[in-house]
Amino acid sequence: MALEDLVLDALKQVMVPDVQRDVVALGLIKEVKAQHGIVTFSVELTPASAGLQARLDPQIKQAVKAVPGVNDLAVHYLIKPEAPAKPKGPSNPPGIKHIIAVGSGKGGVGKSTVTANLAIALSASGLKVGILDADIYGPSIPLMLGAQDQKPGVLNEKLLPIEAHGLKLMSMGFLLPNADDPVVWRGPMLAGALRQFLNDVNWGELDVLLVDLPPGTGDIPLTLVQLIPLSGAVIVITPQPVAAAIGTKTLRMLQQSRVRILGLIENMSYFDCPTCHTETAIFDRGGGATTSEREGVPFLGEIPLDPKIRASGDAGIPVTIAEPDSPQAQAFRKLADQLWAALVPT
Ligand SMILES: Nc1ncnc2c1ncn2[C@@H]1O[C@H](COP(=O)(O)OP(=O)(O)OP(=O)(O)O)[C@@H](O)[C@H]1O
Ligand SMILES: [Mg+2]
Repeated sequence: MALEDLVLDALKQVMVPDVQRDVVALGLIKEVKAQHGIVTFSVELTPASAGLQARLDPQIKQAVKAVPGVNDLAVHYLIKPEAPAKPKGPSNPPGIKHIIAVGSGKGGVGKSTVTANLAIALSASGLKVGILDADIYGPSIPLMLGAQDQKPGVLNEKLLPIEAHGLKLMSMGFLLPNADDPVVWRGPMLAGALRQFLNDVNWGELDVLLVDLPPGTGDIPLTLVQLIPLSGAVIVITPQPVAAAIGTKTLRMLQQSRVRILGLIENMSYFDCPTCHTETAIFDRGGGATTSEREGVPFLGEIPLDPKIRASGDAGIPVTIAEPDSPQAQAFRKLADQLWAALVPT
């Protein structure tokens, strides 16, 4: 047996702590050479395992020196950078360029209203836009876009999204026999439904798919963001401190899940009295800008508290369509421009 092989055999006695495999089996030993009883080889470690050198070195030397025929030994330690990790996780369904989640933390701050109007504003600027209503328990997108009576068709085993106001939509609301029926699903079924909404819906070509997230910072929104390959997320808050605080939790939860925060939106910022023409900060004002600054994320803009926004949403014709020239619609268009600029910087 060649001395190199004897050395390798001896090195199989040297175990790497924690993983309980030997240095040869782990492929750490490279280029073993032996000449006139002088043995040289390298031990290749990664930056993460470099700390093992001090523990392995005496064992390696002891094992090799015990091999008959070895007179001397030179060991080189190499720290080799780890190969960049392959991107993990879900990938975009073909045809969808960007998927953006709209989250809030606190419920009722206007996530769905903002999602619907943002989608229309983005579509008005010439983009192909869809909405995935990920609020499985409380889907409100069908109603807000006046599509609550529609049922999706099926083509080639894929659901066809509902089309309304130039947008493509998918929501649990379209699949329930009655809109008021409760959904009594738990985690795995919920995740399954969402996966199907993404992969088993014939979305076609979309520039952007907005995902209306359910409220909360708990398990459900977290699972959802991990299932969906997001380009980024926007957070909707209302200005009062409690909403800003919960919005911040959502923001950090998303950041911890490595989701890029495209920006914060302050909804219900102020009420512009139509008769006295003064602005009243009903829920306080400025929480969005302050939170954005503190968290180091872009502030995308303010949307006023306005009866037209509420009424048009309830009527299924969002204000961006019902009154496209109104200041309210303009505020949403400005948001859409800011969002697109944050997503695709020119
Ligand atoms: N800027 C606004 N001005 C007036 N009413 C608004 C505004 N934004 C939202 N609303 C109204 O507030 C209510 C809650 O809005 P919406 O359903 O969009 O909130 P949400 O955050 O999606 O709620 P949930 O947490 O239940 O999903 C709706 O009746 C909506 O019409
Ligand atoms: Mg909602």
